[in-house]
Amino acid sequence: MHAVAIVAAAGSGSRLGADLPKALVPLGGRPLVAWSVDALRTGGVDEVVVSVPTGRTGEFAAALDADVRLVEGGATRTASVRAALAAAGNGPGAVLVHDAARPLTPPDVVARVLAALAAGAPAVVPVLPVVDTTVVVDPAGTVTGALPRENLRRVQTPQGFSREVLVRAYARLPKGAELTDDAAVVHTIGVPVATVLGDERAAKITVPHDLQLAERQVRP
Ligand code: CTP
Ligand code: MG
Repeated sequence: MHAVAIVAAAGSGSRLGADLPKALVPLGGRPLVAWSVDALRTGGVDEVVVSVPTGRTGEFAAALDADVRLVEGGATRTASVRAALAAAGNGPGAVLVHDAARPLTPPDVVARVLAALAAGAPAVVPVLPVVDTTVVVDPAGTVTGALPRENLRRVQTPQGFSREVLVRAYARLPKGAELTDDAAVVHTIGVPVATVLGDERAAKITVPHDLQLAERQVRP
């Protein structure tokens, strides 16, 4: 099964607050996006397409191997994935969509996603259990109830899809629609989404504390 990975790297990283786009911020001396691309390759993907912020293609080209394709992303993550998906074409096989902001994703997670696709799942996401008691509040912030957390999962990336399914789902999605992940996009056309075990190390770097934790993990 041929697998293409799309890396969403066109965000600015406003919550991280660095003076570079988040995907170019160094971790252990290498840009986050370079770590993410390595994890995908080691996990078994054949090709990588990265969505980059407008006007920053040169810096990403310098940070990545020459065989990584670069496309300019859009104003939202959904638009950035859509742009990369158009560049990835519509052949047979699989597409994985990954956040550049998850640099320490173990290759095993990538391999589990690919295995589920090879076994016939049209869509698959890596998930983790919810370990905290999770409550519902009213507009004033007062607790009105608790959710049974045994049925809840936290969703990570890379998320895997049959390429035909993902292309069809994005084609049907209204142009301005913005969804937080790609499983939500395929869910809109009624495709079942399977789950495999994620990994805490695939956590997303969002705020400065997340980067400090990641630095500690890669420290020699
Ligand atoms: N992303 C993207 N295009 C956008 C917005 C986000 O490709 N227009 C990517 C980011 O580069 C990131 C991933 O989607 O790898 C997850 O988004 P997030 O963590 O929210 O990153 P940013 O949008 O860059 O950060 P912030 O929301 O703090 O500005
Ligand atoms: Mg964002």
